[in-house]
Amino acid sequence: MAILLPGGAGYIGSHTAVELLKEGKDIVIIDDFSNSTPKALEAIKKITGKDFKFYEMDYADREKLEKVFEENKIDAVINFAGFKAVGESVQKPIEYYTNNISGALVVLDVMRKYGCKKFIFSSSATVYGDPQVIPITEECEVGGTTNPYGTTKLFIEQILKDVYKSDNTWDICILRYFNPVGAHESGLIGEEPKGIPNNLMPYVSRVAAGILPELSVFGNDYDTPDGTGVRDYIHVVDLAKGHVKALEKLDKENEGLYIYNLGTGTGYSVLDMVKAFEESTGKIVKYKIAPRRPGDIATCFADPAKARRELGWVAEKTLEDMCKDSWNFIEKNS
Ligand code: UFG
Repeated sequence: MAILLPGGAGYIGSHTAVELLKEGKDIVIIDDFSNSTPKALEAIKKITGKDFKFYEMDYADREKLEKVFEENKIDAVINFAGFKAVGESVQKPIEYYTNNISGALVVLDVMRKYGCKKFIFSSSATVYGDPQVIPITEECEVGGTTNPYGTTKLFIEQILKDVYKSDNTWDICILRYFNPVGAHESGLIGEEPKGIPNNLMPYVSRVAAGILPELSVFGNDYDTPDGTGVRDYIHVVDLAKGHVKALEKLDKENEGLYIYNLGTGTGYSVLDMVKAFEESTGKIVKYKIAPRRPGDIATCFADPAKARRELGWVAEKTLEDMCKDSWNFIEKNS
């Protein structure tokens, strides 16, 4: 029995592949390298000393996906595939809705055809919109997303709830990621955004490395301790381990729909992150204060108690680990 990872060569997928292989699971990865490289696959093998099957294909290609299910005994699917750039999604809503939503529907339909009903979905804290209550619990209202990317996450969550309602023999887990950062300690896998990064940590590490001249801090007049945006940064290896725990939960429970926040429960501001990065690496991060970025919110951090209680999962890595591992990855790969 194998776990299928669409998008398994990407940032979060590759780290989860490592953790699953370390736990002795069989995996099958499919990826079209639209936002990843074949190098990640070699790195996963190098880190774990284990091999796995790989198909280079679009996850939404039904015919090819059926072939994957024909050729392998797939027990569960953890879906990492999909477009994820917030800004780009505003420019290309049709591409985002098609790839993310149609893709998820193809996967679910093929799963149903082959009697595979364990599904773990990469959702995002973005589904909470501008949260009314901080820290955010899973019971907080969802909606009010500010870009098509976020709305695809919201819609797929709704689709999964409806699928479960129609047939409660499905076993579904929705994981709402907060802000994944860092890289594997080996420096062999990490985040490799194409072009200029949109997210804070990849930008900070590129400024420290001299690849980019300076960081623009988007707004210092938010209602936060230092005026800059506050987020719940979580080490990608902790996040990856959350998927292993979610899979264990689905294996144990047999039938149910579960939703968990995967965050640390601690919020750091943009300036906290700059300072932590400088202290952890000894590098200087040049920055200037710039206008607010449209669609940004002031504060977003998780209450991760439900994941601790029900999955036995808790984020273990420190902010220093996140900074050091991001830097190590940049140093080894630039
Ligand atoms: N920021 C800057 N300068 C930059 C980049 C970011 O000041 O160059 C600030 C932002 O304004 C924000 C914080 O750093 O306050 C974090 O921004 P990111 O772009 O790294 O992350 P977001 O919180 O905006 O979004 C991330 C993911 C989304 C996901 C969301 C969930 O990119 O995919 O978290 O909360 F939906």
